[in-house]
Amino acid sequence: MTTPTADPLATLPLPGTPVSPAGLPDPALLARLANEFFSALPGGVAAPDVSAASAAVGGVPSALPAAAPLVASASNPAPAGSPLAGPGGTGTGLPGMSPPQGYVPGVNLLPGAPTHVLSLGNRAPGLAPHAAAQRGIPDNVQMIAPALEPRAGSAVLGVPELNGAGERSMATTQLAAAQADAPQAASPFYFVDAAKYGWRGEPREVAAPPLDFGDPRAFGLVAEDDLGDLLPLVQRTPDSPHALYVFENAQRRERAEGPHPAAPLAPAAHPPFDVHAVRRDFPILQERVNGKQLIWFDNAATTHKPQAVIDRLAYFYAHENSNIHRAAHTLAGRATDAYEQARETVRRFIGASSAEEILFVRGTTEAINLVAKSWGVQHVGAGDEIVLSHLEHHANIVPWQQLAAQTGAVLRVIPVDDSGQVLLEEYRKLLSDRTKIVAVTQVSNALGTIVPVKDIVEMAHRVGAKALVDGAQSVSHMRVDVQSIDADFFVFSGHKIFGPTGIGVVYGKRALLEDMPPWQGGGNMITDVTFERTLFQPPPGRFEAGTGNIADAVGLGAALDYVTRLGIENIARYEHDLLGYATSVLAPVPGVRLIGTAPDKASVLSFVMKGYSPEEVGQALNEEGIAVRAGHHCAQPILRRYGLEATVRPSLAFFNTCDEVDTMIAVLRRLAVRR
Ligand code: ALA
Repeated sequence: MTTPTADPLATLPLPGTPVSPAGLPDPALLARLANEFFSALPGGVAAPDVSAASAAVGGVPSALPAAAPLVASASNPAPAGSPLAGPGGTGTGLPGMSPPQGYVPGVNLLPGAPTHVLSLGNRAPGLAPHAAAQRGIPDNVQMIAPALEPRAGSAVLGVPELNGAGERSMATTQLAAAQADAPQAASPFYFVDAAKYGWRGEPREVAAPPLDFGDPRAFGLVAEDDLGDLLPLVQRTPDSPHALYVFENAQRRERAEGPHPAAPLAPAAHPPFDVHAVRRDFPILQERVNGKQLIWFDNAATTHKPQAVIDRLAYFYAHENSNIHRAAHTLAGRATDAYEQARETVRRFIGASSAEEILFVRGTTEAINLVAKSWGVQHVGAGDEIVLSHLEHHANIVPWQQLAAQTGAVLRVIPVDDSGQVLLEEYRKLLSDRTKIVAVTQVSNALGTIVPVKDIVEMAHRVGAKALVDGAQSVSHMRVDVQSIDADFFVFSGHKIFGPTGIGVVYGKRALLEDMPPWQGGGNMITDVTFERTLFQPPPGRFEAGTGNIADAVGLGAALDYVTRLGIENIARYEHDLLGYATSVLAPVPGVRLIGTAPDKASVLSFVMKGYSPEEVGQALNEEGIAVRAGHHCAQPILRRYGLEATVRPSLAFFNTCDEVDTMIAVLRRLAVRR
């Protein structure tokens, strides 16, 4: 551990130096002195050395690039929650200097005498000064053990960490390999390694998206060009499943991607969906992973962003950025307009009757928590029942479990059949006048089942219950009309529909929202505050306490506009055919067991493979640049229904192609012959 070479207190405070109104030394002066002092530390801000730095703190890079300022700002106290903050806020516990907590910025930058007793156990040695640089990067990572300081270490920086078992994650291993190749001076953090990964790199050649189909011979089928010859074969031997399968695949491929380039164009009933043109809207699809062009089959986890969304976010920050609703200046007006316009876009997209019924939240998880903790606490009591389906994501289970534990209510679960479809007759039996709310997903994230939510909502209403529909996995795949479904609440996430992360939506019927209490308090959601009482805004403001995710709401609006321009029906049709094709080629791979075979499905192909763990399959696919999720998909109850803890889950979007599916199948077939 590095120690300072001079006593900083000897220089402070000098008679006649500026002091704050509280009689304390001027914070700017303190910050400057602290800067000077710690700049003099041995090895203070040396250029990063990946290997030495990593060794120093257990594999977590411990030095920052020289460009990072040692102290970013004089008004940058330890944030709330930091172990460096005192019990009441910021501060160092300097003897003789006990500023009101959080009052004098900069004071906590001083090298410390013993700190508050409460934070001793989890703070780094008292001599470590600390301040967060503007992007939250700690200024003195090299002096803070990662486990001791939540702002230090890799988690806050988005750098892969050692996993709990002490093994390197796959991403970490790849990062390490990439670092080994990197030039000496490269940053250990891949997001600042501009030369190797980033935005300041030389333009490089990228592979054009493949315009042709994969070669069916790669997995033992006849070639595309032989399909003409196959037709008589199919007719001659209609009982030959192999021949029929190839022929049907060809038909599906053609429906999904349009005719083969060499084939004459058939008149189409609808404008053709030009997947290759659409792919050009998504810059990340040109990315190379392990030397291969990225194939993104992890759309159920998150979708990629079209250039239109990326541009919209950049435009917001370049031209409109401001807080909303609360200033007299032009940018506040622009930002407010953009934000409220996005709300209107969401309203239109899901068919709500008014924009006041649209609440912005962080995502589906927060959306369901809002309903459970506001409407739920208000309306659900001991002995009441909450009905969920067996398909639910943890986000649509845990908040209700918490509510049940808090109120004495009981959870009831709609079972599914072996295909993964809910059993409506069983559901009917669960309903009674004790049922207060039914919360179901519209599309299962683990199996892809499309759930008949309109029927489910109608049956809930017949017993006087409310209904929440989780649209996280549906809105990007099918037309949603909340009024037609008649859902009381409908929730979804922006990042699953080509929008940014950290933004999501609660739709609630106006009468319900007006009657619901706020679930978080703070700025923006009030009309008047005294120490005795607070008057709240009507919805949606009442449910949007604090500064929200303004830019990403605007980005979500751009994403929905983009989807609208493509046409959600076009998307649904294309994806339906693509899923059909993918299912038809995946199911026959030796050793593959499909999980989730309901006739109505969207996007998801869950499977397990004999002789391989899902993680092994996921890794083998990743080696070929193919991204799938392998794990429990935050839906453990439904996987356990099939005796499983994990599956491999490719999930499709409209920018995927049959060609990409073929590439995945080729990898799986290679795996299949090995075990
Ligand atoms: N809910 C997301 C998924 O299904 C994270 O992968």
